[in-house]
Amino acid sequence: MSISDHIEKLLLAAEIGKPLSRDEIIELLKMPGEYSLDLFATADRVRINDVGNDIFLRGIIEFSNFCERNCLYCGLRKANEKPDRYRMTYEEILATARQIKATGITTVVLQSGEDSHYSVEHICRLVEIIKQDTGLVVTLSIGERSPEDYRAFGQAGANRYLLKHETASPELYQYLRPGCRLDNRISCLKTIKGLGFETGTGNMVGLPGQTYEILADDLLLMKILDADMLGISPFIAHPDTPLAGIENDDIELTLRVIAIARLLTRNTNIPATTALATLHPQGRLQALQAGANVVMPDFTPQQYRNHYDIYPGRADAGSPLEIIAELEKDFQMIGRAIGYSVGNRPTKPNPGILH
Ligand code: 5AD
Ligand code: SF4
Repeated sequence: MSISDHIEKLLLAAEIGKPLSRDEIIELLKMPGEYSLDLFATADRVRINDVGNDIFLRGIIEFSNFCERNCLYCGLRKANEKPDRYRMTYEEILATARQIKATGITTVVLQSGEDSHYSVEHICRLVEIIKQDTGLVVTLSIGERSPEDYRAFGQAGANRYLLKHETASPELYQYLRPGCRLDNRISCLKTIKGLGFETGTGNMVGLPGQTYEILADDLLLMKILDADMLGISPFIAHPDTPLAGIENDDIELTLRVIAIARLLTRNTNIPATTALATLHPQGRLQALQAGANVVMPDFTPQQYRNHYDIYPGRADAGSPLEIIAELEKDFQMIGRAIGYSVGNRPTKPNPGILH
């Protein structure tokens, strides 16, 4: 069988739902560039069938850039003295959530570094205030906490939780996140999922030391955890971190990981991440045509936004309404539109022809 026949067969099997093995995933990650478009088109068909044509928006508020960790890749790492550190007040956070609501978006993501300034009571109060006032679906993305904290966040009304596993290699994880362990991260994710949160995990693509085998393990971990949301972004080196200067302009590999994630997990919500849009002007639209179905625009007020400096050159500037208008135009170019429902992961497989 020629290589093209072989890949065609593999994609066909994946499209009708045959689980991909680790070796097959590695094959798809490594195959020659001319087959990428077939992979993306296959993932796009599964995306239409399993989660539909709408693009769901999640409004992000980066409410604190304090962080106690020292992740080698991240500009917010504690050892970096450059960023002006801020914590938004409750009033500012609530005002921003109201702006998100006013655009018609139904979900807010509250994101921060790992900042123990915020007690469990603090976060619960914040969630309660936002839920009461806006009725938005609330997603937390505030790092590793105890099972008791996660339970309390859920009781306060938080609906979703994002905690990217970052890399499925225990060694690489420990190197990139000094003092942290992958098994703790996975245990947090299992707790979060067990508590009934819509659970998000994900990775970075293009990390130093990362191999195709590790990327395949990332994808299998997303599947095994039965995560509902998958954030897959390219690594972008930050000049004020130990990984400064490590080039990664390969958005192609990130798009492949997104496409394979769609084939493996079928009905999950997969954002076209801001990091992709930052690396390439068409990165976001390409991801939306390779399996992604979510965009997470940043609504952090202008005076703070530049200080949430995870990686350089982050895309998306302007007022909430400007950002939405811009996205709407972009989506139209690829024949898609914003979906204004809450966009939960569908609970049942779509009874389409592919099942
Ligand atoms: N490039 C891309 N993504 C990054 N993140 C942190 N640093 C970088 C970087 N240099 C991502 C991590 C983390 C999220 C908050 O930001 O995946 O989960
Ligand atoms: Fe902190 Fe998260 Fe950045 Fe690590 S990736 S330094 S935990 S903000």
